[in-house]
Amino acid sequence: MELLIKDVTNKEHVGKAVTLRGFISNIRKGKNNIFFMLRDPSGVIQCVSHFNEKAFPEVEKLTRESSILVKGNLKEDSRAEGGYEITIEELEVYGLAEPFPIKKGHKKVFLFDNRHLWMRSRRVTAIMKIRSTVFEGIHEFFVKNGFYEIQSPSFVGGSVEGGSTLFEINYFDKKAYLSQSWQLYAEAMVNSLWKIYTVAPSFRAENSRTWRHLTEFWHAETEVAFMDLNGIIELEEGLIKHIVKNVLIKNQAELTLLKRDQTILKNVVENPFLRMSYESVIDLANKNGLKLEYGADLGADEERVITSKLNVPLFAMNYPTKLKPFYHKPDPKDPTHVLCNDLLAPEGYGEIIGGGQRVDDKETLIKRIKEEGLNPNDYNWYVDLRRYGAIPHSGFGLGVDRLVMWICKLPHIMYATPFPRTPRRIYP
Ligand code: 4AD
Ligand code: MG
Repeated sequence: MELLIKDVTNKEHVGKAVTLRGFISNIRKGKNNIFFMLRDPSGVIQCVSHFNEKAFPEVEKLTRESSILVKGNLKEDSRAEGGYEITIEELEVYGLAEPFPIKKGHKKVFLFDNRHLWMRSRRVTAIMKIRSTVFEGIHEFFVKNGFYEIQSPSFVGGSVEGGSTLFEINYFDKKAYLSQSWQLYAEAMVNSLWKIYTVAPSFRAENSRTWRHLTEFWHAETEVAFMDLNGIIELEEGLIKHIVKNVLIKNQAELTLLKRDQTILKNVVENPFLRMSYESVIDLANKNGLKLEYGADLGADEERVITSKLNVPLFAMNYPTKLKPFYHKPDPKDPTHVLCNDLLAPEGYGEIIGGGQRVDDKETLIKRIKEEGLNPNDYNWYVDLRRYGAIPHSGFGLGVDRLVMWICKLPHIMYATPFPRTPRRIYP
């Protein structure tokens, strides 16, 4: 059986021969010995070769980031990171590395230019492990609650989230776009399956260049038949609590390596989220020093101020109709507002989810499509869903990269994504 560093660093293996594969970091060559750290997905372990004991010409040639197999005797060593050390007895080199370009203190642009190599760093590895737990948690939550996973196309004929962020592409002799959201298709599929979800990339030609926008991001979306705004809010809260709880259980080592203060993550699991109307959120923003009027849209800067002192997420509900896309259901009690919610993450991070209840009658839908300056003929199939047995239904979309950014408390969404796509970056 293949063993990893985490499997052998225990009393049971002390004094025995262990075999490990990995990459070399922190290599130190002395007159009489060579020390280096061997790194695999599970951690690091110190390896040493004393020249007087056994001659290894290969050891002397080793360089940082070379890939090797080592066999040697495991012993405890309180001075070594992790508390163990291997005395090398056999060595096989898979690939001898050229001088590695990444050193301490590089600037962000250089690091992202070398993302393919930087991936190996322990910090990036820790973030990607947490990201993996987040994706696992999403699937686990929906499967556990009886949802079907179902997909929509990435090539589409029209917008969901407004024309300004549509990526236009040549689709043979026609214009087409990359999907901004699976939602419109979900509203068709929900009529047969009733509880559905997907995890897929969405695309936005965002030119805003903020710390929280990618042009391609991972979108976890759900749609539920016969559910209203309150129901969908409870589902959102359940999902986020489940994910954060999983990360706290499975990723203690990674959160520690990232020096993440876990107080707020624990709060999120244990306490109810806040709920406020859009107007109360504007009041809160103004109490914190902003000067917003009712009707103002909330962007990254405003949400940073609103959420920076919170210690649980906040549901901002019932926005003015003109701030939201055509598919949101106007509140029957006040049609100037829609039955929607944005879930804002604490610690300044802001929106991680957008969702709500959908328009379920044909006339309102056509009116709202026209009000947005769109052509109802482009949405014929979507309007059909209101012609043949419309039902109340709700859904939401979670920006998974944004959630990872907040859980890891990263300064920019690019750090949360393996190979980020932004207006300026499509390499590597
Ligand atoms: O709020 P949005 O635009 O809502 C929708 O797309 C709905 N159709 C979803 C639905 O109801 N099925 O996007 C949902 C979430 C946002 O809250 C945000 O977290 C994330 O997707 N998001 C982005 N993440 C990274 N980069 C971008 N450019 C993003 N745009 C949206
Ligand atoms: Mg939104």
